[in-house]
Amino acid sequence: MGDFQKKVDRINTRSVKWDLTEKIFKDKEVLPMWVADMDFPAPKEVQQAIINRAQHNLYGYTITDNTLNEAITYWMQKRHNWKIAPEWITYSPGVVTSLHMIVQALTKEADKILIQTPIYPPFYAAVENHGRKVVKNPLLLNGDKYEIDFTDFEQKIKDKDLTMFILCNPHNPVGRVWTREELTKMAQICMRHNVLIVSDEIHSDLIFSSHKHIPIATISDQIGENVITCHSPSKTFNLAGLQASYIITTDRRKKLKIDNQLMNQGFHLLNTFGITAMEAAYKHGEKWLHRLIEILEENKRYVIETIHSHTRKIKVFDSEGTYLLWIDCRELGLEPQELKQFFRTKAKIGLNDGYTFGKEGEGFMRINIACPKEIVVEGVNRILGAL
Ligand SMILES: Cc1ncc(COP(=O)(O)O)c(C=O)c1O
Repeated sequence: MGDFQKKVDRINTRSVKWDLTEKIFKDKEVLPMWVADMDFPAPKEVQQAIINRAQHNLYGYTITDNTLNEAITYWMQKRHNWKIAPEWITYSPGVVTSLHMIVQALTKEADKILIQTPIYPPFYAAVENHGRKVVKNPLLLNGDKYEIDFTDFEQKIKDKDLTMFILCNPHNPVGRVWTREELTKMAQICMRHNVLIVSDEIHSDLIFSSHKHIPIATISDQIGENVITCHSPSKTFNLAGLQASYIITTDRRKKLKIDNQLMNQGFHLLNTFGITAMEAAYKHGEKWLHRLIEILEENKRYVIETIHSHTRKIKVFDSEGTYLLWIDCRELGLEPQELKQFFRTKAKIGLNDGYTFGKEGEGFMRINIACPKEIVVEGVNRILGAL
């Protein structure tokens, strides 16, 4: 089922998370708990499928075929109760690539695009790198829960130059899993004002008990026609380095534009091992995923309870999904650069600085808890020690 407690040495594996520690945090003693990949080995079935494929010894151009389509349609039906047709699928090396392609294919220069801040930093680049304009619908912090400011949302959506809304569900970094009610309301407002919804659902397999992920495209058939969904097994099964993801588009005309955009920029084939891993993960990975979620839930509980029982200076949000926890450090009264120094120099822990998610993230930090308990305990001890 997978060993989630064994600490695996990732140093010298060209790991972004572990091998860039010194370069990024200027100290090789820093404990990396930042970028969103997990310190857990992929499911055994995925490992074996890759080994089998590697032993074939021929690694030429590889097609995405009907067997792979079926693995995706099976997964979507089973996990998300969404019956998708194979002809809705477009393959792409990654969700970030997909966002860049979709923005270029379906908006014009100078168009405005709405995002809900604080947000995963590449959302800004996917808009701004192509001469489009970011419009923010900042999330509202009500007590200890982030919510959508619907008045502001509709006001921004109404702007006739605003043509696209990029949704993050579950939301990185705040950890909200948007409810059916919230999704319906956002989708209806977008429909009323003719704004296309792009939904990044990369974290949607990682949902904690008592919450449920609802693909926004499934709210109704009519809404589904106005949604483009980006998905991938890479967060779920720790396959980010294999570069295989997909886009689901029900509207044929829009799908054609996206296909052409990818083709014209040379993204017309996937990585051989990415294809193998995606198929194996979706066909055989569900039991492993159940166990993973239990481990993450336990890690989350530990971080929240331990930190909250020792200090009132920082507050950890009880995330509803993802393996990323958002931490409110505003009580420390530090400027963004001071906060950054506090964690890297004093606590010697490598987290994501909240301000990189937008101005609304100033005073916050993001921690990745997808690692063996031993690392989580060490991380929490370092934070508390520094405090
Ligand atoms: C919301 C979100 N979208 C996309 C990605 C990255 O996706 P990919 O590696 O497929 O480009 C991440 C990674 O952290 C993410 O959090």
